[in-house]
Amino acid sequence: MKVIATSSVLRTIRDEYLGVMGFVPTMGALHEGHISLLKRARSDCDHVTVSIFVNPTQFTKSGDLDIYPRDLDRDLEICGELGVDLVFAPDKTEVYTTNDETLIRLPYVGEILEGASRPGHFAGVAGVVLRLLNMVRPEKTYFGAKDAQQIRVIRRLVQDLHLATEVIECPTVRAPDGLALSSRNIFLDSNQRRQALTLSAGLFNASDAFAAGERSSGRLRALARSAIRDQDIIAVDYLSLADSTTLAEITGDVKNDALLSIAAMVGSTRLIDNVLLVV
Ligand code: PAJ
Repeated sequence: MKVIATSSVLRTIRDEYLGVMGFVPTMGALHEGHISLLKRARSDCDHVTVSIFVNPTQFTKSGDLDIYPRDLDRDLEICGELGVDLVFAPDKTEVYTTNDETLIRLPYVGEILEGASRPGHFAGVAGVVLRLLNMVRPEKTYFGAKDAQQIRVIRRLVQDLHLATEVIECPTVRAPDGLALSSRNIFLDSNQRRQALTLSAGLFNASDAFAAGERSSGRLRALARSAIRDQDIIAVDYLSLADSTTLAEITGDVKNDALLSIAAMVGSTRLIDNVLLVV
């Protein structure tokens, strides 16, 4: 496994890899969610590149970037064990040029839901993913369904800019009790973690009702919200039931595949989760 810190070395080495290159962009602190993407890329592709870069431009709250968990040694161990070929672990100056000013905005899909709560977040994500894709030039790129809006932003980016990579979505990996794995879960104390479970529990309640035939968007939203009890600990930012493709909010009955998604502050930790309701 080669660990690369500069874009110039990456560009040179990349050309030595013939065949299908799979790419998994990450911000490190790898957990089983990331690992599922790495395994999928490993089984699909001839070569696998992983990027580990805590991208400053997608952080919208001061302080969040500083406390974001980092453990490069452990990440490299995991990548080594999983048979990753290239790890790109650059500094900021290797990704963004001096006086870099190119901004990628997606004024609809990038500025609703997460984008409305975190202005500039998806411009940061789209900007870094585009830069990384240009450096790694992968045939296939892997993202988690956990970040449902992110993958829709990336699909839009790839389509609009005619990028030559296939975007592959991998299912959300959860702890046995249902909590979606996230690098941020380490910030939860045991009481907060218990309360955080009500987010996924609400989504599952709605998803079960949907499977049993419930189609009223109002009732499905109410079901998802009703699992959340302790409003002292959990503050819901949004609960959305939207068309899975367009992310347009659904009123009336659900007629097409829908994304039920939630964002909430649990103490001072922001968590997101979602389920897909397939008609
Ligand atoms: P990060 O949060 O490190 O996530 C990297 C990838 O892992 C994303 O595609 C994310 O959706 C996926 N992932 C995270 N938790 C998951 C889980 N529980 N199950 C399945 N997949 C999961 O997302 C980012 O980094 C950044 O925004 C990035 C795309 C790297 C751009 O900086």
